[in-house]
Amino acid sequence: MASSALLESIVPGIPVRRGKVRDIYDFGDKLLFVATDRISAFDWILPNGIPDKGRILTKLSEMWFERLDVKNHLISMDPHDVPLPEGTDYDSLLGRSMVVRKTEVVPIECVIRGYLSGSGWKEYQKSQSVCGISLKEGLTESDRLPELIFTPATKAEEGHDINISFEQMVDIVGQDLSEQLRDMSLDIYRRGAEFALTKDIIIADTKFEFGQIDNEVILIDEVLTPDSSRFWPVDLYEPGKGQPSYDKQFVRDWLETTSWDKNSEPPELPVEIIEKTREKYIEAYEKLVEEPFSWK
Ligand SMILES: Nc1ncnc2c1ncn2[C@@H]1O[C@H](COP(=O)(O)OP(=O)(O)O)[C@@H](O)[C@H]1O
Ligand SMILES: [Mg+2]
Repeated sequence: MASSALLESIVPGIPVRRGKVRDIYDFGDKLLFVATDRISAFDWILPNGIPDKGRILTKLSEMWFERLDVKNHLISMDPHDVPLPEGTDYDSLLGRSMVVRKTEVVPIECVIRGYLSGSGWKEYQKSQSVCGISLKEGLTESDRLPELIFTPATKAEEGHDINISFEQMVDIVGQDLSEQLRDMSLDIYRRGAEFALTKDIIIADTKFEFGQIDNEVILIDEVLTPDSSRFWPVDLYEPGKGQPSYDKQFVRDWLETTSWDKNSEPPELPVEIIEKTREKYIEAYEKLVEEPFSWK
């Protein structure tokens, strides 16, 4: 099997654009959107992949696209729906690819927060606000917020995304589109989180991306996955502290125990950290989908 972490030239001859996790091949009006097993933490791509991670994220996004009833970029799960050149490593694409509509990406990360966590909790402790939005006093870490908040960010080419106010978002993409994206994000989060809760998963917060095509706004990228969201198991939920989660917490916690300074190449992950992280992704998948994970 080809190394799924880097996937060097799975589709020979077609220029590839690499995100942190995805390899994107351009076929004109369509993209082949391939989720590799790469994992990032603290804004670095780690030297090891997590086996099957790309397949898990792809199947989860597919589930949501089917369930959410919102216009989105998914055309098909079959890589043959783009003209793959001779020599394509088709087996390595299976289960981790989507053929999607190519859009003009709206340069805003649409973040919805339902709970107080991470950088939001840090800011709240200092100024009783999250991304500049004032909140009531007396909240504790991981508390459910009195109401959902929309906290947009700009997509940084390198490093951290930058939080912006709704007014700054309006300056960048206009009033109408800002309101439309905010309302769509709130609606999708609400419906997704409600469904996840029936599977004993709290979606504490998440990030959506949208694209424009033919004067239409559609949901793109990955949706409600443990990479784009904080997933917490309901049965262990206990406000007043950080929550165990289904995402990269394992990897982050392990990295914190090393001497890595987060400003240089990150260290190799030990086998057991890779394996435990893989199990967490699979656990999240199996809870939400209620089927054993299999990508065939
Ligand atoms: N339908 C689409 N059309 C154009 N670009 C898209 C589409 N869906 C997702 N993208 C872009 O593809 C990239 C996904 O790759 P990923 O590895 O997740 O990147 P990132 O490092 O930015 O998270 C993102 O830049 C995203 O904006
Ligand atoms: Mg991404």
